[in-house]
Parts: sequence; structure tokens; C-alpha cells
Amino acid sequence: MTLPDPVGRQHEVVFLNSAQHNVVLGTAGTGKTTMAIHRAVHLAHPATVNCGPVLLVTFNKALVRYLEHLRPAGEAQITIETYSSFARGYLNARGQMPRRDGIAQKGQLRALIELAIQEIRALHPGRGVLTRQAGWFEDELGWISGMGFTTIQEYQAARRIGRQTPLNAGTARDRVWLVREAYLRARSLTVARYDWDDLASAVRAQLAADPNPRRYRHIVVDEGQDFSPEIIRSLAEAVQPGGSLTFFGDYHQAIYGQGMSWRSAGINLGGRPVERFVDNYRNTKAIADLAIALSRTPAMAGEAEDLVVPRAPVAAGPRPALVLAGNRAREIELVQSQALGNAGVQSVAILARTWSLAEGAAWGLQYRRLDGDNLRAWDPTPGVWVGPYHAAKGLEFDFVIMPSLGFEHLPHPDVASAFDPAEAAAREARLLYVAVTRARAQLLLTYTGTLTPLLPFAGSGLWLESEYP
Ligand SMILES: Nc1ncnc2c1ncn2[C@@H]1O[C@H](COP(=O)(O)OP(=O)(O)O)[C@@H](O)[C@H]1O
Ligand SMILES: [Mg+2]
Repeated sequence: MTLPDPVGRQHEVVFLNSAQHNVVLGTAGTGKTTMAIHRAVHLAHPATVNCGPVLLVTFNKALVRYLEHLRPAGEAQITIETYSSFARGYLNARGQMPRRDGIAQKGQLRALIELAIQEIRALHPGRGVLTRQAGWFEDELGWISGMGFTTIQEYQAARRIGRQTPLNAGTARDRVWLVREAYLRARSLTVARYDWDDLASAVRAQLAADPNPRRYRHIVVDEGQDFSPEIIRSLAEAVQPGGSLTFFGDYHQAIYGQGMSWRSAGINLGGRPVERFVDNYRNTKAIADLAIALSRTPAMAGEAEDLVVPRAPVAAGPRPALVLAGNRAREIELVQSQALGNAGVQSVAILARTWSLAEGAAWGLQYRRLDGDNLRAWDPTPGVWVGPYHAAKGLEFDFVIMPSLGFEHLPHPDVASAFDPAEAAAREARLLYVAVTRARAQLLLTYTGTLTPLLPFAGSGLWLESEYP
């Protein structure tokens, strides 16, 4: 696999000062992942000033497989892994990870949080924040951990950047904090010492006490917008003195609701500017136009300084198609015939809001699952990939098919009931943005019933509309 050579600003980013931290922002398709690999290769190269072992870290396992596929052969000095495998490995090396079940998993976490909410509701019956759903608390406690707050005072004083649900300082936050403490108490009675969101604070605590030399001279982060400030801090602290952290991210694609992670993390850029990529190398103009329109919808717009406005690319291609199918069976028929018609020569991805919607649409086809846990290597050959939007993050396909765009699926009912409408819309629109921008050349959007309100205004000419009755 040969990586494209850097062009323009990309070039400078690869060769940024290796003794300082750097932040590179850019929207989808601007070459962040490609340059993250180039940068890692550069920093590991024996001829580079200040070279040393490099950790290239990213969000999910599918993306690790993709990076492994893209990395040039023979670069032994580069380790590629997810943050959670770095954190688990490090805590384990420090003797701080139980042999089994050391991290509370989804179901256990939810059960512990529900227990904690019950406990605090019994103490404070009535209306108010305690009537919110467990899903909301799970998210809020995760956010608190990700910010690294350890006292109620810090939480009370926090500005909720990137989070739209207003939660005023005062009683409401006191109650949330009580739930957090009850949750931690309940968890301390189990084998689990951590959850995914407080792993980073544990890493930081260990790093602070660790007398051994650091393993990595440099750390490069791809998809950094989804890392919490605590994760970013832990990575900045994990590099050798004199080493560097290079952060690549796109806040349009922040799909885990943390928001503004590198700023909150207090990364010191020594007064140097943030690098911004604006040229899109992945999508055709027609697809980029839709993505740009999506990023300007009320749900996604207006999130401040770290959103980079892209330049539309010039590559030509067909307009995206939006098809209203008569019913689910007809929708599946259309999706499958389109997938089959192209999979012989192209990479085709069927992406939907959930696994079941995506696999439901692909049922009976031969396909590969975008499932990081079971993906042993990235397979670049033509064929069909299937997965939820989340799993497609960072990847690209010639042809993307997005079924089930009806309003009953988007926003997802669980998200719609856990958050207020603006926050639910913002989260779900960013997911759609991630999915749309995976398409290199061709995009097919399908739905039955009524279209989701999260897409841009229908009469905008961004797509060709038709019916498949
Ligand atoms: N300088 C370049 N010249 C040609 N193609 C490029 C260049 N930089 C990136 N690309 C291509 O553009 C696409 C998007 O790049 P990628 O690094 O995945 O973007 P991002 O991570 O910002 O979404 C990839 O197919 C990549 O090979
Ligand atoms: Mg990328």
C-alpha cells in the first residue's frame, strides 16, 4: 500500500517541530489520517532529529486495522493501537489491572448507574434532574470522568462547552454528583476498578508515580476529537521529556459528545497556531456539497472556533441519490441490487444507524462486518462492508449506501429520549456526517415513510430524488 505524498500544508504538518506538541484540524477527507501516518513514520525514522519510538493511537479497532494496512512496511519503531489497549496495557504493566473484569462493561455499568440513581432518588424524591434517564446519567458521569473532575466544586464551576443540554450550577449538579459517588461506591464492591471513562485518570495517576523511563518519544493521535481531555492529558504525559504529541481531529465528527478536547486538556502549543487542512481529497464535489450543507444545518452549525470550514473539492461525480421506497422490503431490494451491481469492482458499504438496521438491509448478501473485534486485517479488495455509522469512522469506500433514513430511526429513539431535542439532533447529525463523508464517489440514501429532519433541506438540489414504490 503506497501512501499519497503530502501536498501543500500537509507537507509542513509532517515535519512540524518534533520537540513540541501540535494540533492539526481538518474536516473529513483532508488527509489527517494519511498525514498522521506520514508524521509517525517521520518521527520514528533514524535520520530525524529527536527521533524515537512512536505510538500512533486512535479510537476504534477497525481504524487500527486500517492504519496497519496503510502503514509502510518495515517501520518497527511504530506501535499502532486504540487508546483503551494502550491504557489497559500500561495499567497492567504497573500491576494495576485485575486479571479479569477490571473494567466495567456496558451492561454492568448501566446496572451500577441505575442502582446509584435509585439510591439518590430515594433520598431526594420529586422532580428535577433525578427524573432523567439512566442513559443521560451514563453520559454525564462519563463526561465528568473525561474532564478529570474529582471534586464537586470543579463540576459546579465547569462550563459545558460542546454540550447543549443546559444543566445549571446548583442543586441539579449536586444531585448528579451524589449519583456519581453512589455509582463509585457500588462499583467498589465489584471486581471492576475502572470504567472506560475513568481509565485515563488512572493512567495519569500511574504515570505521575512511575520512575521508569517512558516507552514512547512521540505520540500521534488520529480522530482525537473523540478523546476526552483526560485521555489527551494522559498521552501528553506519557511521552518522554523532549518528545511530542501530535493531535489530528475534526470536531464535525465528534460522535461521543465530549467536545473541544484538546483545548480543555490544556495542551501547550507554545503560542504556535493550530494547523488547518481545508482541501478535501476523498469525496467528489457532489458528495462534499452534501456534507458541507449537513455541517451547516442548525443541528451541527455554530460550535465555535475548532470547526474548520472546508473548501469544496473539484473531483466530479454523480449527485447523491435519495430514494423513497414503498416499504421496507422494497428498500432492501433496492439496497441489495445496488450493492450487488457495484461490489464486483468497488468497495461498497451499507451503513445504518444500528447494527440491526444495517445487517437487516444486507440480509442474505455476502458481506464483511465492520466489527473491529473480529476484523483481523483490513481487506482492500472490492466487495460489500456492513456496519453502523460509528464503525465506519475514519474509513472510506467507493460507494456508500445509507438505508433507514426515516425519522423513526434518526435521531435514534434512545438518544431522543435521553437528551433534549437540540442535543439529540446535534449528536445524531454528526453521525450522519461521518457516514456521508465515507463515500468517495457515490452515495445512495434510502428511506421509507418520512425522511429524518436531520438531513439538509430537501429542496436544496443536493441530491436526485426518486421513488421506488
Ligand atoms: N496529498 C494527497 N494526495 C492525494 N490523495 C490524498 C492526499 N492526502 C490524502 N489523500 C487521500 O484522500 C483520502 C482521505 O484521506 P484521509 O487521510 O483518510 O483523510 P481524513 O483522515 O482527513 O478524513 C484518502 O483516500 C487519501 O489517500
Ligand atoms: Mg481520518
